[in-house]
Amino acid sequence: MSITEHRILGDHRGQLVAIEGQQDVPFEVKRVFFIYGTQPKVPRGQHSHHKTRQYLIAVNGSCKVTLDDGKQKITYDLNHPNIGLLQDALVWGTMHDFTSDCVLLVLASEHYDEADYIRNYDDFLKVLGV
Ligand code: TYD
Repeated sequence: MSITEHRILGDHRGQLVAIEGQQDVPFEVKRVFFIYGTQPKVPRGQHSHHKTRQYLIAVNGSCKVTLDDGKQKITYDLNHPNIGLLQDALVWGTMHDFTSDCVLLVLASEHYDEADYIRNYDDFLKVLGV
């Protein structure tokens, strides 16, 4: 779980942020998805993965992400498009407090596989051995 402030390559034409797999994110990016059309009072996520690592960037608007590794819960504010948050495998993640204009971009280390999800919190704690 770590937050990174990426360099903004801006000039008079506007801003640009570049993120490279295996360099700016510590894995090869195998999948990209994004979430939009969200509502402030409707959280998403609320699951963990056995293997998948994710990198989250609010490329528009903002949201909060609470990460829980079974020992501590930390809430991060994704409020600028140059802020990236690493969610490691076996970390429970909840995205919440979305602004209505939020576009949350997620880079993932694995292809989509429902079997990689842990969707029940008690199961998550059991896998961790807590
Ligand atoms: P879901 O995991 O519920 O989204 P969130 O993490 O925001 O709570 O995913 C919603 C639906 O989209 C669900 O049917 C699974 C599907 N899905 C894919 O097909 N591919 C993907 O890469 C992702 C992330 C989800």
